[in-house]
Amino acid sequence: MDKEKLNRRDFLKSSAKGIIIGGIAVTGLNIEKVFAGFEEIESTGADKVLNLSEYPDLSNTGGYKQISGKLIVFRTGGSSFRALNPTCTHKKCDTHFNGTEFECECHGSKFDKTGKVLNGPATKNLRSYKTKFDSSANTLTVKM
Ligand code: FES
Repeated sequence: MDKEKLNRRDFLKSSAKGIIIGGIAVTGLNIEKVFAGFEEIESTGADKVLNLSEYPDLSNTGGYKQISGKLIVFRTGGSSFRALNPTCTHKKCDTHFNGTEFECECHGSKFDKTGKVLNGPATKNLRSYKTKFDSSANTLTVKM
């Protein structure tokens, strides 16, 4: 009788461990798929083409325009631009560009207008995108 109870107890313990480990494995797999999906969205290589006639803030050197939560564009010269992702590289909070620098309200990181870290806790610069200016079409292609 005791032997049978012990066996049932062992069986239940083993089953519980199996369920827990299986649950973690399934959950881990789903999380992996979810994150993989986000990475695909982030790195699709899709180009964003901006018709600059629609963005008067970008018509002069020194101008800038936040296009979306993931893109802010600066005009750095007659035919040169800088495109940055203003998402903080510490824990992915939004930053605010105050005209001089990016400020993250979550934990206080700051970045200069080139995206370089000025104050931590962030240690990585803001992500930058390549740009291509077509002067005849007055468009800017941002490689996102
Ligand atoms: S998320 Fe920006 S400083 Fe932490």
